[in-house]
Amino acid sequence: MIRAFDALSLPLLRWLDPEDAHRLAIQGLRLLPPVRPRTDDPKLAVRAFGLNFPNPIGMAAGFDKSAEVSDALLRLGFGFVEIGTVTPKPQVGNPRPRLFRLDRDEAVINRMGFNNDGGDAVLRRLAGRAHLGGIVGVNVGANKDSADRVDDYVKLIEIFAPVATYFTVNVSSPNTPGLRNLQQSAALDDLLARVIDARERVRQSAGDSPVLLKIAPDLSLAELDDVVHVARSRRIDGMIVGNTTLARPSTLRQQTRAKEQGGLSGRPLFRLSTRMVAETYVRAEGAFPLVGVGGIDSGGAALTKIRAGASLIQLYSSLIYRGLHLVEDIKNDLASTLLRTGRDSLSEIVGADAATITAEDWPV
Ligand SMILES: Cc1cc2nc3c(=O)[nH]c(=O)nc-3n(C[C@H](O)[C@H](O)[C@H](O)COP(=O)(O)O)c2cc1C
Repeated sequence: MIRAFDALSLPLLRWLDPEDAHRLAIQGLRLLPPVRPRTDDPKLAVRAFGLNFPNPIGMAAGFDKSAEVSDALLRLGFGFVEIGTVTPKPQVGNPRPRLFRLDRDEAVINRMGFNNDGGDAVLRRLAGRAHLGGIVGVNVGANKDSADRVDDYVKLIEIFAPVATYFTVNVSSPNTPGLRNLQQSAALDDLLARVIDARERVRQSAGDSPVLLKIAPDLSLAELDDVVHVARSRRIDGMIVGNTTLARPSTLRQQTRAKEQGGLSGRPLFRLSTRMVAETYVRAEGAFPLVGVGGIDSGGAALTKIRAGASLIQLYSSLIYRGLHLVEDIKNDLASTLLRTGRDSLSEIVGADAATITAEDWPV
């Protein structure tokens, strides 16, 4: 059914303005009948951050910013869904056009700027579906005009704790001016201290929600040293590596469109983001698991990301080019790799290539 849906919808969606296509995809998913997802191969199950994931493939943040279709996505076979980025107040984001397809590169550039319905509306939606279960993470950020950005994260942790299976602290969007400065050592230490404090304050009443930190793939290795050091000392539960890149690889075919401002994602991000997963993995020394995201568009790419150090993975841009059946395809590929190599779980290969990858030349 998903394959048929892709065959019908992809040509139409590719013909539309990218943001209209995204809106239409969300509307389409809202109409998805409440079918039960196929049960996953038990070998694909992953335990991370104290949570049991039925499979390692997640929907990355930014697709379902205001939690409109998280259950439809879970029904399509994702092992988890990350909604957001949510900010305390609703936000319209940057003026359109702000989303660009680079078809020939299978890439996307976006400068959306945290458009979302705001904390109250998103909380109501998540509270309304909480009884359905499934892993729904809440990616939190700060309003563009906020006088106290750290306070925005703290507020969101407090109000979303009862409905968030996990939190992602997003300090890596390139489209909110100055946000990435929160990755600097002293600022990050203060932010994470206050976020963890907030989580502890509400733990009694709201239960435990792991807190992950999402970083940019554009950090220097010295900056990454500091970020991992702070994350470890503040006992963060995991890291997501990573967000979109400000870099524009010289290999891009659509060089004119590549000049659009914003974050680049999709296939051209794969090598850089995979290198950053490996670099983070060797620095984390097993202190916490990683979610690998950036340019995954096949079972092979998913496997490479896992072998670089990712316990879980997320997708976004490749779904635009390949369609939603990619989720099932990747799961099938991962399951047959496990069968072929006689392994019982993906955890046996997480990070297996990290040392090799970090010894390679820097990807350009
Ligand atoms: C249109 C668009 C909007 C995004 N919005 C967010 C966001 O709000 N918060 C966030 O943490 N990441 C956001 N991302 C980044 C993705 O979650 C992901 O980290 C990035 O796209 C790399 O993965 P991919 O190559 O599979 O797309 C966005 C990406 C795209 C393409």
